[in-house]
Amino acid sequence: MPAMSGPAPPPTPRGLEGVVATSTRLSHVDGAAGELIIGGYELAELAGRASFEEAAHLLWRGRLPDARALASLRREMAAARRLPAQTLAVVRAAASHARPIDVLRMAAATLSLDLDDPDGVSPAADLAAAKALTARFPTIVAAHARLVAGRRPIAPRADLGHAANFLYMIHGVEPDPIAAHALDTYWVTVIDHGMNASTFAARVIASTRSDMVSAVTGAIGALKGPLHGGAPGPVLEMLREIKTADRAEPWLRRELAAARRIMGFGHRVYKVRDPRAEVLSRAAEEMSRAELRDRELFDLARAVESTALRVLEEHKPGRNLRTNVEFYTALVLQSLGLRPEQFVAMFACGRVAGWCAHVIEQHAEDRLIRPQSAYVGPRGLRIAAPTQPPARAQTSTRTKVANTSRTGSPRPRKRRSTSSLR
Ligand code: COA
Repeated sequence: MPAMSGPAPPPTPRGLEGVVATSTRLSHVDGAAGELIIGGYELAELAGRASFEEAAHLLWRGRLPDARALASLRREMAAARRLPAQTLAVVRAAASHARPIDVLRMAAATLSLDLDDPDGVSPAADLAAAKALTARFPTIVAAHARLVAGRRPIAPRADLGHAANFLYMIHGVEPDPIAAHALDTYWVTVIDHGMNASTFAARVIASTRSDMVSAVTGAIGALKGPLHGGAPGPVLEMLREIKTADRAEPWLRRELAAARRIMGFGHRVYKVRDPRAEVLSRAAEEMSRAELRDRELFDLARAVESTALRVLEEHKPGRNLRTNVEFYTALVLQSLGLRPEQFVAMFACGRVAGWCAHVIEQHAEDRLIRPQSAYVGPRGLRIAAPTQPPARAQTSTRTKVANTSRTGSPRPRKRRSTSSLR
């Protein structure tokens, strides 16, 4: 093995843990205090009190809108909800064999086709793209859900709020205001969250002066992994497998013994209960009042949560693996009649407004994100000199002629049978 040479690389925190990558006015996560600030407001102040459109305005324009600005944003976003034909064609083509988050990624990429300035990185171009993307994500998810169920997509209604319109497009009836409020609260709760993986991905793409649609499409790819946004589906599956509170402890211990992670627990930054879990557990409790089945699931979730916290503390003492946002997300979304495979796409419908705000901020900063890496591979390797000429070089002129047609062009080679390749 060749000797390693050169100075020892500086220690690199794995997964960039603790590294401050940029400054932002958009949101702040204090993992020790369990605090999330969005555009200057504590999450508990914002979620449930400001609508999703108001929170989007806060991130995109730096302040909550007054009544006129809100009415105008609502009008513009409602008018943008309908999907262009090419986007709907992608949703239809992928409907039977792709998961909702993948359909969203493919369809999102088409949303640059009808923007006036798709490559623009000016504040005006970014804002127009932000409104179109945020307005259309729910339409894509709802259209896909209808097509998968063998139904026709329902056209959006401009007279309904962002969350109420989504539930209308999914279920075909105007939703109960409590359900619309729960979804609105969920989307505000997940709208932005510091330098998480998908937001960082969006900012890296935007830093090359690439456009908003490209940055957001890349962010969807980062969000879908189970360590980021893909956890709430498995949370619901876990609760359904556990079934009753008395089965929670053996189930959780079995998972940990098999070196599997318990979904909905642990966080790179929070070492106390995620403040979003707090907000969403209240929303889930509110929703569970209407249906006995939801009430039973909520009670089971509470029992599983307290057992999991105890078992995880025993399993990884001092690591502070606490409840994260995904645990109660699963409950809120299932009570709205959504299926686990749709959950991560629902997350994207909320987070898209935050991604767009970060792209706006990154474009204004206009500085390429280009870190370095510590090289830990070998150096000074040499290519060994060949000991004899390669076999091909000895091929005779006769063989070359035999492989050439009368016109002088090479003959198509015969395909070898697959069996000879095995
Ligand atoms: N279940 C079991 N063990 C867990 C765990 C979980 N949910 N979360 C972390 N751990 C373990 C890790 O394996 C690690 O063990 P090790 O030191 O023996 O390798 C230890 O606890 C510390 O992990 P930590 O470094 O704090 O986690 P991370 O920052 O690498 O990962 C998550 C954070 C979110 C990826 C991780 O907690 C996780 O996978 N959670 C489950 C998925 C989830 O809910 N994702 C949604 C996040 S909002």
